[in-house]
Formats: sequence, structure tokens, C-alpha cells
Amino acid sequence: ETSRALLNVEDYHQQAKRILPQMIYDFYSTGSDDQLTLNDNLQGFRRLKLRPKILIDVSSHSTENSINCQTQLLNSTTTISFPCIIAPTALHRLANNEHGELATVRAAVACSTIMCVSTTASTRMELIAEEHRRHIKTHYPQSTSQLWYQLYVLKNRQHSQKLIERAEKCGYKALVLTVDHCHLGNRECDVRNNFSLPNGIQTENLIDDHDYDSEFAKAYRNTVPIDSSLSWKDLKWIQSITSLPLIIKGIIHPDDAREAIKQGIQGIIVSNHGGRQLDTCLSTIDALPDIMNAIRNEKHKIDVYIDGGIRRGTDILKAVALGAKAVLIGRPILWGLAVNGAQGAQNVMAILKKEFQLAMMLCGCRTIEDIIKNDLVVMNNRNN
Ligand code: FNR
Repeated sequence: ETSRALLNVEDYHQQAKRILPQMIYDFYSTGSDDQLTLNDNLQGFRRLKLRPKILIDVSSHSTENSINCQTQLLNSTTTISFPCIIAPTALHRLANNEHGELATVRAAVACSTIMCVSTTASTRMELIAEEHRRHIKTHYPQSTSQLWYQLYVLKNRQHSQKLIERAEKCGYKALVLTVDHCHLGNRECDVRNNFSLPNGIQTENLIDDHDYDSEFAKAYRNTVPIDSSLSWKDLKWIQSITSLPLIIKGIIHPDDAREAIKQGIQGIIVSNHGGRQLDTCLSTIDALPDIMNAIRNEKHKIDVYIDGGIRRGTDILKAVALGAKAVLIGRPILWGLAVNGAQGAQNVMAILKKEFQLAMMLCGCRTIEDIIKNDLVVMNNRNN
């Protein structure tokens, strides 16, 4: 087959599908049970329609000749080049054996965005942080990229605490606590494929630490013993052992969003884990409006983020229009990595940024604030 230009995220997806071994492609791409939530995350965005504003001067005079879509997060402590962040996903060396997360972090630096590193990364978090600093210093001194650390609370609380302390020590700027994973979802493709880690690839942050005994190391090789007893009261414990901003990932219910604010956290991520956990869970973009409503009158303001099914610039624009500070993308980055390592992941980000800027212009938006003001999204379109 002749090679063709990779113009959009779906092109990268199809190319990755050609390249990756079936077991890995399935692990990355599929969801739980009947994959209804996986699909609905995508369809949710497609159902929403935009009503653009016209006759607004959207010409720009910057050297880049493009719209400024820089976005401030976490009380303006953080700036990203457009409202799109790299979601935490497991085991990047399955997509790119040679560099894995070290490739992803270079893409994050180049695009001035955040990489949220997973507890189940296949590279030690200290090495990722080191590469982050090095790549900024040598190639992108202007980059505002930062690292966040995604935490699964493990059955052994001391081990969990140790992960948090390591992340804080090596320069991660926020802690993202994933709460929709009290038990692994039912991913039948992985069962059928008898999914297992290829030799040499493992969850490096959970094993191979000289403080951990070998029994412990063995226990982590194939399963991650996530603590299913984790509950609201444990947030106090986490807040007591770290000074990092805390972001809760995996909220769908408006009551939970309100409770999270009561607990004094700094952000939430509306997420259903990319349709990999509870199937028939509400799609994230459909969950967002009720959540925004529920917290509208709270005095303590937090950042609301969203992930699941973002594949186009218009998807990002819809999420921002409905109140999200930024979106996170999971699988698109994995497709980029699989196709062309750091450059591939960087291209995927660049494509989404360009599409987002175009969508802004075509909707008559000169700034991120315009997107929120312009009332652009129609929720109850009868032609669904
Ligand atoms: C994930 N996700 C995830 N989330 C998390 O908090 N920790 C993790 O280790 C992982 N691992 C993981 C692996 C793979 C292969 C996928 C596809 C997803 C969920 C991820 O952060 C995010 O919520 C979804 O991927 C967003 O949906 P899209 O962008 O993939 O549609």
C-alpha cells in the first residue's frame, strides 16, 4: 500500500492499527463489555452541534499568524499553549519500545503542554522528569510544559505514599488521583488475547525499587493491586502527605463534583476512563453540563477538565464552550507514538491545535473567553 499523508487523528489511528501487534492494538483501543461507553464518548461530541457567530474580525497580527489559545490552569500557576493535555495512559513502551514515555515527554515539551504520567508507566518517573528538564533546556527553552503525576492508591498505603513523595521530589506539579478504577473493568478483548506484558516491559515505578523487597516486586509484575477500599475520607490523608494541588480523575456524577469541592481539591477530570471501566456509563461530554450546573454556585472555584473521545479541534471547542478548562487525550497520543515516536505524538498535538484554532475562527472567537461567552453549542438538537 502506498503511504498517504496523515492529516488527522483518525489517520494516525488507522496507521497505528496497521503497525501494532493485535494484542497491543486491542489493549489500547478497546473498552469494557459491549464498548457502548467507548463509542458514546465519540458520538457524544458528534451529536452536539455548533452555531457559529459571524462577521467578527478574527484576523491576527502575530508572527505565527494564528489565534492565541494559551490557557491558564490551577490559579494561573500553569500555562499551556492550547487547552489540551496528555492523559495518563499505561505502558508507552508498548507503542514505542525504544523510548516509550521518554518520547511522549519530548512531545509535551515541544507543544508546551502537560504530560500526566501514569502510575503504570513503563519508565521510571525520575527518568521522565530528567528528560523533561533536559529537553526544555536543550531544545525548547521557552516551553511552559509541566509534568503531573497520576496516582492509583495501592493496597499498601506506604507504597502509595512513597510514589507521591517521589513525584513531588522530582518536580511533578500536580497529583491526579484516579478514582474510577476500584476494580479492573471487564475488557473481554484482553481476556481473549490472553494479554500479557512482552519481555522487558513492565510497570517500572512499582517494581525495581531497591527499597522494595523481591516478593513485592514479583507481585507487581502482572497486576497492580489497587486499593478498592479507597473512599472520600482518605483524601485528607493524601492532602496531609503532599503539598501538590490535587485533581480527582473519574467523576461523572454531579453530587461527586460538589463533594470534591467540599474536600478542598483543586480540580476534577470528568472521565469514564475512556470507556474501559463501567460500560453504559454516561459519555463524558453528556455528563459535563450537569456537573457545571451543580458547582456553579460554590464559592471555592476549581478547574474542570474532561477526557474521552476527543479526536477533533471542534471537540475541544465544544468541551471548552460547556465549561471545561482543558481536555485530555489518551489514545490519540498512543497512535502518534506507535506511528512515529516523539515526532508522531507531537504531530497529533499539532494537528489538534491547528484544528482548534480554525474552529475558533470559524465560530467567531478571538480568545478562549469568546468561546465561553458566545453560546455556541446546541444541546437538544432535534436532528440527533
Ligand atoms: C488509560 N487511562 C488511564 N487512566 C489513568 O488514570 N491511569 C492509567 O494508567 C490509564 N491507563 C490507560 C491505558 C490505556 C491504553 C487507555 C486507552 C486509557 C484512561 C485515560 O487517562 C483517559 O481517561 C482516556 O484514555 C481518555 O479517553 P480517550 O482520549 O482515549 O478516548
